[in-house]
Amino acid sequence: MADYIDLPTAVVAIDFGTSYSGYAFSFRSEFKKSNESREIFRNSWTSGMAGNLSLKAPTVALFDPNKDFHSFGYEAQEKFFDLTEYKEDGEWYYFSKFKMQLFDKMKLSRNLTITDESGKSLPAMRIFSKSLEFLVRNAVSQINRAIHQTSQLSEKDITWVLTVPAIWNEPAKQFMREAAVEAGIDKDKLMLALEPEVAALYCRYLPGTSGGKDENDILSILHHGGRYMVVDIGGGTVDIAVHEVSGNGKKVTEILPASGGDWGGESVNKSFFDYFTREIGGEKSTKIKQTRKSHWMKLETNFEEKKRKLKSNSERGIRLDVPPVIILDAEMKIDLSKSWKMDISNDIVRSFFGSTNNIIRHMKFILDRVADIDLILMVGGGAQSDYVSNMVKQEFASKTVIVPAKAEVAVMEGAVLYGFEPWTISARMCRYTYGIGCNHPFKVGVHREEYRSEIDGRDMCKNIFDRLVTEGEVLEIHEKRVAEQYSSSHKSESRKDIILNFPFFASSDTSCQYVTDQSCERIGKIDIQPPADGWPDSVKYRLEMYFGRTEFEVKIFNDNDDREYSAEFDFLI
Ligand SMILES: Nc1ncnc2c1ncn2[C@@H]1O[C@H](COP(=O)(O)OP(=O)(O)OP(=O)(O)O)[C@@H](O)[C@H]1O
Ligand SMILES: [Mg+2]
Repeated sequence: MADYIDLPTAVVAIDFGTSYSGYAFSFRSEFKKSNESREIFRNSWTSGMAGNLSLKAPTVALFDPNKDFHSFGYEAQEKFFDLTEYKEDGEWYYFSKFKMQLFDKMKLSRNLTITDESGKSLPAMRIFSKSLEFLVRNAVSQINRAIHQTSQLSEKDITWVLTVPAIWNEPAKQFMREAAVEAGIDKDKLMLALEPEVAALYCRYLPGTSGGKDENDILSILHHGGRYMVVDIGGGTVDIAVHEVSGNGKKVTEILPASGGDWGGESVNKSFFDYFTREIGGEKSTKIKQTRKSHWMKLETNFEEKKRKLKSNSERGIRLDVPPVIILDAEMKIDLSKSWKMDISNDIVRSFFGSTNNIIRHMKFILDRVADIDLILMVGGGAQSDYVSNMVKQEFASKTVIVPAKAEVAVMEGAVLYGFEPWTISARMCRYTYGIGCNHPFKVGVHREEYRSEIDGRDMCKNIFDRLVTEGEVLEIHEKRVAEQYSSSHKSESRKDIILNFPFFASSDTSCQYVTDQSCERIGKIDIQPPADGWPDSVKYRLEMYFGRTEFEVKIFNDNDDREYSAEFDFLI
């Protein structure tokens, strides 16, 4: 984990999104400037095909028939489009929207595989790491070009920030971290940042929000004190955080565990394609998708463009360009003497945005529970939708709803700022109750008889869930939880060099007692490496754990002599 104290020479942030990915960077010299004159630089790429729909690049990765990485982003999209036009794509591997494979998983394997649209699969770790490597290399060469005139910056001067949804579980975060390290980022120079948090940081530095000149200015909340909700509407997930600013703007505390769902912009596209499939018939749709891939890709782009232009007050519906081959193959009922477009009525278009109702419902649920939230920040590509943002504004008319101009880059630019001042988010709320599985001396009348067992000659109770932290607790980033009741014995030679591990559990029940409870799930372990000279005959441990950081951290000491052992959480199977 990168240091919390030194100001880095340069920060590069990577926003690896479900739909679009990009990077942004800046230098210490820029960070020290005032809000108005500070510059954050961004990736620059151009696309012929999709007409640069996003300031980021599409999250698509292409591997050749030998399973070697070919390209990422616009380049991958264009190459694949070309291959499909000549029907040469059969042996290639084309992956898109694969970030969603990590969403909502409490258990994740390092060996996870991802299947592409034609049914061929590759290891997920490889797809993620090669894609990240592409972004890392581009970023490094762009930085080197940017500073060419002055001094060469060495890669070791860079602090890397990789953003992840706040609603992701620990295994998904670790998966991203390992993919980033595999991509060539030094693990000690890498920090993970939570997407809605850094987006809020971006809003804090928006021009005109320098803060507090006008006491009535609602944006002064971001600088002086008060509560706000930040809603990151991405392609895959909607990620919501609620923060409180205190300490004269110096302290931002998470006051509700991050929450959300898979209601991002892609769900609108999916609703459209479900509708399209119903209209032309499932069998035809499957066949056309397979045999007319390039045309299908064109249809996807056409819908994406239409979606972006949709106005909240539009009464007309949309006229969608459908590639002629699809119209003919699907025998669509379109009067071709008039046009080659598909008319979709306003009511149907609105039904594609069902996910927006989920977002609003969830926001209401939060506002009913947390008082005094007057400010709502909407970020992410989905917030750029006139339709979506106006629906939210109408629903929460009594609140101030702010959508920054380039909402889709709020995460990656905010992540650069975060790289310079990670301590700004000073405390976070725990999303589950976490504990270690262990044995305790058996207490008659307290412990469950069926778990009673004689261990090393002692009367013990197995399967105890030893709670370390409870759901809803707010933990400062430097706050540690200490556990001292663990010990191990290593008298025999065969136990001198073993790797020890403590099983680690999450529970949705704050009063969970046993790791076998229904609410409880083993999500990983803490691995402890043996010291170079082997374990002493017996060890009494002191575990110090940090649950208020973007990733959980653990330090393990021998409580007798304070010697530290090398230890790490491992949430991957
Ligand atoms: N003007 C717009 N109108 C409607 N939707 C838009 C607009 N601009 C972007 N989007 C949608 O926003 C989504 C992309 O947003 P963003 O780049 O924030 O997502 P991401 O970071 O790739 O995904 P995630 O954060 O879920 O991993 C896409 O679904 C895109 O269609
Ligand atoms: Mg995003």
